[in-house]
Amino acid sequence: MRPHTVRTDRRVTATLAAALLSAATLTPTAAHAAPEPAPYAPAAPHAPAATPAADGLAATPPMGFNNWNSTHCRAEFDADMVKGVADVLVEKGLKDVGYEYVNLDDCWALPERDADGQLVPDPARFPDGIAAVADYVHDKGLKLGIYTSAGTKTCNDAGFPGALGHEYGDARQFADWGVDYLKYDNCNNQGEDARTRYTTMRDALAATGRPIVYSICEWGENEPWEWASELGQLWRTTGDISDSWDSMLSIMKQNLPLAPYAGPGRWNDPDMLEVGNGGMTDTEYRTHFSMWAVMAAPLLIGSDLRTASPETLEILGNEEVVAVDQDPLGKQGEVVSEEDGRWVVGRELADGGRAVALFNETGAEQTVATTAAALGLPQADSYALRDLWRHEDGSTAGDISAVVPAHGTVLLRVTADG
Ligand code: GLA
Repeated sequence: MRPHTVRTDRRVTATLAAALLSAATLTPTAAHAAPEPAPYAPAAPHAPAATPAADGLAATPPMGFNNWNSTHCRAEFDADMVKGVADVLVEKGLKDVGYEYVNLDDCWALPERDADGQLVPDPARFPDGIAAVADYVHDKGLKLGIYTSAGTKTCNDAGFPGALGHEYGDARQFADWGVDYLKYDNCNNQGEDARTRYTTMRDALAATGRPIVYSICEWGENEPWEWASELGQLWRTTGDISDSWDSMLSIMKQNLPLAPYAGPGRWNDPDMLEVGNGGMTDTEYRTHFSMWAVMAAPLLIGSDLRTASPETLEILGNEEVVAVDQDPLGKQGEVVSEEDGRWVVGRELADGGRAVALFNETGAEQTVATTAAALGLPQADSYALRDLWRHEDGSTAGDISAVVPAHGTVLLRVTADG
């Protein structure tokens, strides 16, 4: 490990070096075998320069909660759960950290529309309807999201109604209920052109006159990064995440090369968070959360916050990591280097600094190293370092390195001094 060169504060630098070293002892090596490292193959996309969306929606990546990763279609997904999660967002300070949307996923409706063709909330799950949940959430200063599919039915086998051919009526219903966010899925699409289907719903949402964040859940099948920024604020880039190291890692690797397409009001969406659902270690969940922040991903909590552990709340509530995700420059981080599972991913920040994730994909402790110059920082005599998980400061003349535990990530903010 190359030592940090002390320029300004020997004591603090020594502290950070110790902290980075001791990061190796944070968590025992995870039981998962390290997957075969895949060589990093950057795509060469050229997106137009980032400009804030004219409507101002999602100037930074949306943050909030969605029930799907926790409940799927099970009966525990109901109004009590959703309201309970909204309560926790406020009580645990997560709303103050930026979590705003409380989003309902599939299975909120009855399988059949009513005689007028209207969607009907499942009375067992939502006995007072969706508008009542929207009111509850709005009273807490939060916003409500809902889900349907750009197909004849949603994705669940039970076959809930989709919005294909019902776009204007369904959008009107959502707006009347007070919905602020729509996740629009891709199941049962009858082979109709994706761009056409997603455009019709964009127009239907616009016709309501209500600002509604439009989340295009097309799984990356038709390269939505090429066209979806004209329609909505975020688009899924991959298939569904599951609560495992391999799934999270695979999605991360698919999403990283798409960095040039992201910007304020237009975000790559590598799917919702699994932090706290139990299938990964806390070290792995810190990696998941760090990489989603460096990738400017939407941060939608996917665990049941009513039963969240202190560790889960600490990860999700880490304001310094969230600040990276929400950085107003809106640039998605890019791979600076990748060698034998030692990843350096850097993200330019609005203050001229960089966030850098030193990520160890392997199953053994590794030293991961880079330099201020490799991150694109200007020449300077010294650089301030901030460890965003340990909340400690240090400095360096330019070399940046850390001993990182298996499957771990050291996340730093690096700024040129003076
Ligand atoms: C699809 C989506 C998921 C989830 C389910 C619900 O698989 O990609 O995120 O919404 O449908 O059925």
